[in-house]
Amino acid sequence: MKESLIALSTVYAPMVGVPALLFVYVLSLVFGLGVLGSVSFILVMIGLLVFGVSGLRDVYFHKNNPRAVKIGREFIEVKPKQEEKASDKNKRAVTFRVMRFHPETQTLKEQDYEIETNRFSTVLDGLLNIKAANDPTLAVRYSCRMGICGSCGMVINGRPSLACEKNVWNSAKNGSIEISPMLGHPLLKDLVTDFDDFFERHILTNPYLFRTDLSEKYNPTKEYPQTKEQLNKFLPFSYCIMCGLCVDACPVINTNPSFVGPQALSQVYRYYADSRDEAGKNRLEHVDLLNGVWDCEFSGSCSEVCPKGVDPAFAIQLLKMEVIKDDFTAIK
Ligand code: SF4
Ligand code: FES
Repeated sequence: MKESLIALSTVYAPMVGVPALLFVYVLSLVFGLGVLGSVSFILVMIGLLVFGVSGLRDVYFHKNNPRAVKIGREFIEVKPKQEEKASDKNKRAVTFRVMRFHPETQTLKEQDYEIETNRFSTVLDGLLNIKAANDPTLAVRYSCRMGICGSCGMVINGRPSLACEKNVWNSAKNGSIEISPMLGHPLLKDLVTDFDDFFERHILTNPYLFRTDLSEKYNPTKEYPQTKEQLNKFLPFSYCIMCGLCVDACPVINTNPSFVGPQALSQVYRYYADSRDEAGKNRLEHVDLLNGVWDCEFSGSCSEVCPKGVDPAFAIQLLKMEVIKDDFTAIK
């Protein structure tokens, strides 16, 4: 109420009153009304004085509080100290302890980088910041930055992970993160590994739908319909993004490189279980080997690290079952 009265008297009254009194003053001059003219003249002067004082007050506030924001007649001051405190809370210095591979000397060497991160920073963001601001020689492979392309696999705090999916603050222990390349793949430089062997194994699984009727395959006239049950049989295994984390985590392939490996075997099952595929038993022949499904010890570490929930360990056990079923059918 008090504020409204002040606003009324200091702003709105002079705003409306001054022009009105001026009009009265002019009328009194025209019609020769001396007393009314003098009174309206004095009131006009008072109104202008009030306007002037409030204007001067605004100028004074702005000069002394450049951060003040005027809302109606009031000045709200933004307190810089509070702002700084809030931004401090959103920043944190984290040490990236990176195990770098030097191809010239074929050695691994640890290097520390301290960088500023915010609560949304991923490990990949941090590494790219290091490249941009600290050390452009650091080699990192990435593409999508959103867990789709499978390029940024590395070992973070001892666990094969996608760098673009790991939050820095959640991963840091005592203010630091340990990062190394995936030693289950040949090393190229720093955190970048060679995937040639990995892709060759994948290609050997014939990762495509096999159809016996080639004319229908190349000139299809309709879709290949599937029921929900038929789709669910292979769908989880089709989510593989070929990041190679499962291969890095697999204790078998890391001791016996002849083992086909979890990624390739899971993809054999993915196509074998697809009702549209007509390769049938031929797919089983490629995995019914000592270095095929029978070398898997079911440690489950491949499924543990898979960022897409593919569960290669389960796929291998399903393949084993299919091989046994097939053997029994042959005996009968
Ligand atoms: S199975 Fe999982 S961990 Fe292995 S390559 Fe595919 S997505 Fe990566
Ligand atoms: S950058 Fe593509 S999965 Fe990480």
